[in-house]
Amino acid sequence: MHRLAVEGGRPVRTTLLPYGHQCIDDDDVRAVTETLQSSWLTTGPKVEEFERAFASAVGAKHAVAVSSGTAALHAATFAARIGPADDVITTPMTFAATANCVRYQGGTVVFADVRKDTLNLDPAKVEAVVTPKAKALITVDYSGQPSDLDELSVLASRHRLIMIEDASHALGASYRGRRVGALAHLTTFSLHPVKHITTGEGGMITTDDAELAERLRAFRNHGISSDYRQREATGSWFYEMTDLGFNYRLTDLQSALGLSQLEKLETWVARRRTIAARYSTAFAALSEIETPTVLPDRGPAWHLYVIRLNLDRIRMGRAELFRALRAENIGVNVHYIPVPWHPYYQGLGYKKGEWPVAENEYARMISLPIFPAMTDRDVEDVVTAVNKVVSYFRK
Ligand SMILES: Cc1ncc(COP(=O)(O)O)c(C=O)c1O
Repeated sequence: MHRLAVEGGRPVRTTLLPYGHQCIDDDDVRAVTETLQSSWLTTGPKVEEFERAFASAVGAKHAVAVSSGTAALHAATFAARIGPADDVITTPMTFAATANCVRYQGGTVVFADVRKDTLNLDPAKVEAVVTPKAKALITVDYSGQPSDLDELSVLASRHRLIMIEDASHALGASYRGRRVGALAHLTTFSLHPVKHITTGEGGMITTDDAELAERLRAFRNHGISSDYRQREATGSWFYEMTDLGFNYRLTDLQSALGLSQLEKLETWVARRRTIAARYSTAFAALSEIETPTVLPDRGPAWHLYVIRLNLDRIRMGRAELFRALRAENIGVNVHYIPVPWHPYYQGLGYKKGEWPVAENEYARMISLPIFPAMTDRDVEDVVTAVNKVVSYFRK
């Protein structure tokens, strides 16, 4: 067996393969350059064009572009009228922004535990934490596999909760034959470079509800009900600020990039699926690790490919294995430290140990690189490195 790089052996690769990376082609560069030479750098026609194309791609009536996935979540909690008197239920197995958007509005975050197989919210656990103060539910499609949306929708309507789907991982995913994008009251997306398509930084909220869409549009523009371009068109200087909003606008430069990227979405999701299938086949015989479970009625978009270690079958722990893979130049990562474990949430009084599934699974997870620009050689490097490291640590 080859010596591990972490012990001075030759690494599987000479350069670090990141866990995620953007794909930018000449069409993208051309689209941005053309917009750079146009009259509108921001709040112009490209934003609307991008919103229309995005809404149509996910099958929603309205799409509202904002400056990040975090801004999208904040706009969603604003549109849902979350305030200091409200509880909002969400998952601990996510990026902090999913919970933070509740705090921005002064609401209280109630974490419910996840299912062990998909790491998505467990509807039974959600049911158990619904309080009379609960006003909304934010479900996350962890790693790109849609949550139990039908069960959660039934539960949400029974308790009169607004359902927000944080689909930052799930652009291009499907659930029971339907596209993610109009399966909750509000669906949010992130357009960060590691996501399915990118605008550098950026986010989108989709909804079928015209009134919610209007609130979202005002919120991203200081709470003002018309934007500069609309006033230009009517020749009026008059505007009113009706709510306390923010400047969360996406620029025309970013929207031009988003439009060009959106054209490649299908191809890129297909490539992510091919890579995931290769990993799952390659690791099927390794009893030291578990590959992701995909439920038969879901079409995941594979933002992440997360393996879980069978810690009783390996010498050493996750940290050593992680370091060994990094030394082989495989840019592994961990998604996620349970949100209530962060010092900010600990300071609010959340206690470790209340979400045993998320917490136990966190201790044994590692995200492998997955992004469409990976070559077949890159994919095989990951397979080789995982085999090399896992067999070394085998008991
Ligand atoms: C589940 C989830 N929600 C929200 C966000 C925030 O998105 P952004 O980085 O675009 O603000 C992320 C980003 O990684 C995420 O993974």
